[in-house]
Amino acid sequence: MAGQPIPERYNSLPENEVLERIARLKKDLRDSITVLGHHYQRDEIIQFADFTGDSYKLSKTASEQKASYILFCGVHFMAESADILTRDDQIVILPDLEAGCSMADMAVLEQVEWAWSALEKYFGREGVMPITYMNSAADIKAFCGKRGGAVCTSSNAQALMEWGFSQREKVLFLPDQHLGRNTAKRMGISLSQMVIWDPNEELGGNSLEDLRRAKVILWKGHCSVHGMFRPEHVDLFRKRHLGVQVLVHPECVMEVVDQADSVGSTEFIIKTVEQAPAGSKWVIGTELHLVNRLKKNHPDQEIYFLSPTVCVCSTMFRIDPRHLLWVLENLAQGKVVNRIQVPKEVKQWARVALERMLQTTTTSQKRLAA
Ligand code: 13P
Ligand code: SF4
Repeated sequence: MAGQPIPERYNSLPENEVLERIARLKKDLRDSITVLGHHYQRDEIIQFADFTGDSYKLSKTASEQKASYILFCGVHFMAESADILTRDDQIVILPDLEAGCSMADMAVLEQVEWAWSALEKYFGREGVMPITYMNSAADIKAFCGKRGGAVCTSSNAQALMEWGFSQREKVLFLPDQHLGRNTAKRMGISLSQMVIWDPNEELGGNSLEDLRRAKVILWKGHCSVHGMFRPEHVDLFRKRHLGVQVLVHPECVMEVVDQADSVGSTEFIIKTVEQAPAGSKWVIGTELHLVNRLKKNHPDQEIYFLSPTVCVCSTMFRIDPRHLLWVLENLAQGKVVNRIQVPKEVKQWARVALERMLQTTTTSQKRLAA
């Protein structure tokens, strides 16, 4: 989404001046702003975050804030979720409106509606549970909410899939086929009971028989950053570094996830390394900024990045100190730039889907703790 361009004068400011001005403004505005930072943000941004987290933690944190302005240093779908979960008088700002997510763009409402009408025709209104990954636009979340479905993130996908199956026979999982497949497989669902729905094909590229047999219908979407990690990289690191533990994000392809020692959200990856003893060896398959930060914060452990190529989320990277300074300077003058505002009708049903996620996750956490 194109936003107001950042004024030229910011580009010629020296980096240290930008950082100093942000620090001053953060102090001046401390009673009215909260800065949230996703773990994939660069260090120069993370240092200014009041809270950091994975998408689940940040959505929950956003819903608990009292500040009038939430500055979301992450990508568009995360800021939209924050807008949906915050009070109507709170304002959510995304410092660069071009910070989107290519995976979220792979599920377009019209395509999803078209798929749904075919599924409804053959399996009825209550035959399929739509569950969308947080990495989707607000209108897709609203679509799911309106049809009894919910949102999930990488940290609660299994709890939400189980919830879906407790009510309906099939799950339509949007838009990340890999998270959907990895989660369903972990639940014991066989690959023969999963189909991919290609939105450009009749019946998603499936026969009616395939669809009848399927328990999980996986939307044909993926993350190109996590798609760069390959099973041969795992083999290479295991050979090169004896005793290395493989830790990956569930957006990676199944062939990588199947070989990993641990799989989880960005918050899970960070916690796992934080809790490990000195001398531990890890090879990590997720975005480069997070892995580099872990290396820096844990010099007593050996940490490697699971790819010979640079896997950076270029849209997360769009949020830089200059954009942060620009939105802060505007706020200091009482002006709001780059507001994320989900339309009211969309908000209502997207909120239902997000609240089902929060509720189901809390219930599942309590069950596990008991
Ligand atoms: P997390 O919820 O694990 O932070 O993942 C978000 C994401 O976009 C990963 O690519
Ligand atoms: Fe989207 Fe992939 Fe970037 Fe995550 S890493 S925000 S899924 S493009």
